[in-house]
Amino acid sequence: MESRVHVLVIPYPIQGHLNPMLQFSKRLACKGVKVTLLTISYGEYLRDKQAGSVTVQTIADDQEEKNRSMKDHLIKFPDLLSRKLPEIVAEQRNHGYPVSCLVYDALLTRVLEIAKQLGLLGASFFTQSCAVGTIYCSIHEGKLLIPVEGPSVLLPGLPPLLICDLPSFVSDLEHYYPGALEMVTGQFSNVEKADWIFFNTFNSLEIEVLNWLAKKWPIKPVGPTIPSMFLDKRLEDDKDYDLSLLKPNSDACLKWLDSKKPCSVVYISFGSLLALGEDQMAELAWGLQRSDTCFLWVVRESEIKKLPNNFVEETIEMGLVVTWSPQLEVLAHKSVGSFLTHCGWNSILEALSLGVPMVAMPQWSDQPTNAKFVTDVWQVGVKVKADEYGIVTKEEIERCVREVMEAEKGNEIRKNSEKWKKLACMALDEGGDSDKNIEEFVTKLVCNAN
Ligand code: UDX
Repeated sequence: MESRVHVLVIPYPIQGHLNPMLQFSKRLACKGVKVTLLTISYGEYLRDKQAGSVTVQTIADDQEEKNRSMKDHLIKFPDLLSRKLPEIVAEQRNHGYPVSCLVYDALLTRVLEIAKQLGLLGASFFTQSCAVGTIYCSIHEGKLLIPVEGPSVLLPGLPPLLICDLPSFVSDLEHYYPGALEMVTGQFSNVEKADWIFFNTFNSLEIEVLNWLAKKWPIKPVGPTIPSMFLDKRLEDDKDYDLSLLKPNSDACLKWLDSKKPCSVVYISFGSLLALGEDQMAELAWGLQRSDTCFLWVVRESEIKKLPNNFVEETIEMGLVVTWSPQLEVLAHKSVGSFLTHCGWNSILEALSLGVPMVAMPQWSDQPTNAKFVTDVWQVGVKVKADEYGIVTKEEIERCVREVMEAEKGNEIRKNSEKWKKLACMALDEGGDSDKNIEEFVTKLVCNAN
């Protein structure tokens, strides 16, 4: 039966935002909602397609866009949306699929204004943790003053945070363009006008801070946005979960992992954006070699030249370097025993949901705060310490990898990881907290349409 409810989902078009919002779309679609996910074509790199139950529609700019850099695409995206959204909504109505709600990335606050102008409902979707959201919210409300002073910060619902645990846009004002902090705190500029506010997290993971923020606004956790086939295994239509901007070396990764012993491999990835310095790459490389542990390392094409000479040849017996991996399949593989991660929020949720212990090596944005929770709150990993020059040495890499893979501490971390894996699954399983929140959203949309 054709659904009467049609929702447009609009992520900020970078990998770390496309992935969770596509998964959220799939959860809506399995409850009978028609979902169209809008993104940009990146000069025809992404095409209109059917990603399982979700229709992916790309919006191309009228102006020549083929040679535009990714940064330019991102800067122009809000304007593009302002111009195109009214047309798209009208088109859908003419085709017999009237849109009732825009689910927009919380970074794209302007979409809420467009929704209201078009007489539509608006749902804001936060792709970061509730803890990080609360820090940005406190700044927005003037309750946490910038520059932050004192050795630590006390905010409601959160453990005491050292300055170095805060998101880098807050703790390290000199290194980021001034717009960065405005952009992340601006997520709260019109949030009170949104009809729904979703966070990609789950109740048991962030209960205290969720309860605190829920006193201000009716926020709803709807995560973790992990494909059902890796979590609750309830959705049949779930195979095509990918909206990858890079092509994974899937066969190479999985075949190589198949040849390794259970829990013997450390997987390393720094997500879709981060670029380490050449010195840091070298320390990481030699640290992996010293750890005497098999490794699968994602080094994006643009970063390959930073690898030390002969590293790949010298470690061919113990390691595999690929330019992009099918990360969820890798984390779910029985040979993977730990994940050395930059602590992007998706990577953390993926590792937690699949029960993989972590070595946290945060770099910027929300990653320092995520790392604090990984090590001190959920206790599913250890964090590397940088030296006085800000470099994580090869000795430190070796120590941390060994600690998680072998030492007594590793056992405790593994036990905790198993616990979080179960809780993550429960959140989205039938009747789980996040599942109920999604169900409630769909019920309201249906009532509204009748
Ligand atoms: C960014 C920020 O770094 C992150 O902190 C923020 O919360 C979201 O935006 P990114 O750095 O790319 O994202 O990291 P992350 O959030 O971990 O997202 C990366 C995504 O790419 C994950 O879903 C991961 O599974 C996927 N990935 C990564 C692959 O599919 N293959 C890879 O080889 C590496």
